[in-house]
Amino acid sequence: MNEKIAALSQAFEAELLKVTDNAELENMRVAYLGKKGSITALMKEMGKLSAEEKKSFGQEVNQLKTLVSDQIAAKKEDLARIELEKEINAAPEIDVSIPPVMDRGSYHPITLVQRQCEKVFKSMGFTVEDYSEVVTDYECFEALNIPKFHPARDMQDTYYLENGQLLKTHTSAAQNAIYKKYSKALIEDGVPIKAIFPGRCFRNEATDACHENTFFQMEGVMVDKNISISNLIYFMKTMLSEVFQKDIKVRLRPGFFPFVEPGFELDISCLICGGDGCPSCKHSGWLELCPCGMIHPEVLRAGGIDPDEYTGFAFGLGLTRLAMMKYGIKDIRDLNSGSLASMHQFTDDE
Ligand code: PHE
Repeated sequence: MNEKIAALSQAFEAELLKVTDNAELENMRVAYLGKKGSITALMKEMGKLSAEEKKSFGQEVNQLKTLVSDQIAAKKEDLARIELEKEINAAPEIDVSIPPVMDRGSYHPITLVQRQCEKVFKSMGFTVEDYSEVVTDYECFEALNIPKFHPARDMQDTYYLENGQLLKTHTSAAQNAIYKKYSKALIEDGVPIKAIFPGRCFRNEATDACHENTFFQMEGVMVDKNISISNLIYFMKTMLSEVFQKDIKVRLRPGFFPFVEPGFELDISCLICGGDGCPSCKHSGWLELCPCGMIHPEVLRAGGIDPDEYTGFAFGLGLTRLAMMKYGIKDIRDLNSGSLASMHQFTDDE
């Protein structure tokens, strides 16, 4: 090896060992590889050599150049690692045995009443179904005996999407799918359809103490041979007395919904004012809690069930209202407020 190259290589190795930070390393890089650096100077010397000498000298200088730049890169990584280790060692120690000071949150009151209702209905043999929040016009209206342009549509001010679908205005939007899902078992094996389907619903409402644009319902249906209004009343009363853990005063009055015939409004006496009248019950002493009725023959037919052979009931329980009644929440808007201070006070009393 050329003496000068060998000497430079040795000098480089020795110098590199002494480098302790990035600035020194950068200085070294410039001193060896920079425009005026020693390796660059060696290259320039090549012009003075014979053709034969040039070849081996050139190779050796190139090898040195590669070695120097590789080692500088490796040193750079070393320095970064050492720096990181220093930082880690300097950090204060963390005592992992100290218990965390943590706010664990709580279930939303609507979740609580939903679970209580699910528990009661499950114990009576109902399945709990899930359904989407975006539905088709057919599911939300047409399959429920509400044709296009029918005035009954005015009862539900709806959020339509640009593609013609909509945010479901009521959990009844799942009825058709549930009938289709279980009609085979009903017809071929005689298994009654008993299902509840809780869900979030949306309507373009002007909000006040008892109206919100987003609220929760829980739909329930039962279809079999010889189902009557007395079955409906029995299930509703059982559910309400279980949820409130006391006998609840209810009243049934006629109500119109195109998908039930006859249709009813099931009211419970207002638990906030005890029936005297307050803003939460629009000063009537009663709270509309559960519209219900016998499933309309057209609705059964749309679900693939022969209405001459089978009958059924359906109800649309207002879960949001139920939560307000059960926990004495005076303003429906608190429920969607995201206020942890308000929502934290409820616990699962199961
Ligand atoms: N879907 C109706 C509503 O939200 C309620 C309802 C359900 C009425 C089932 C009758 C039977 O207004």
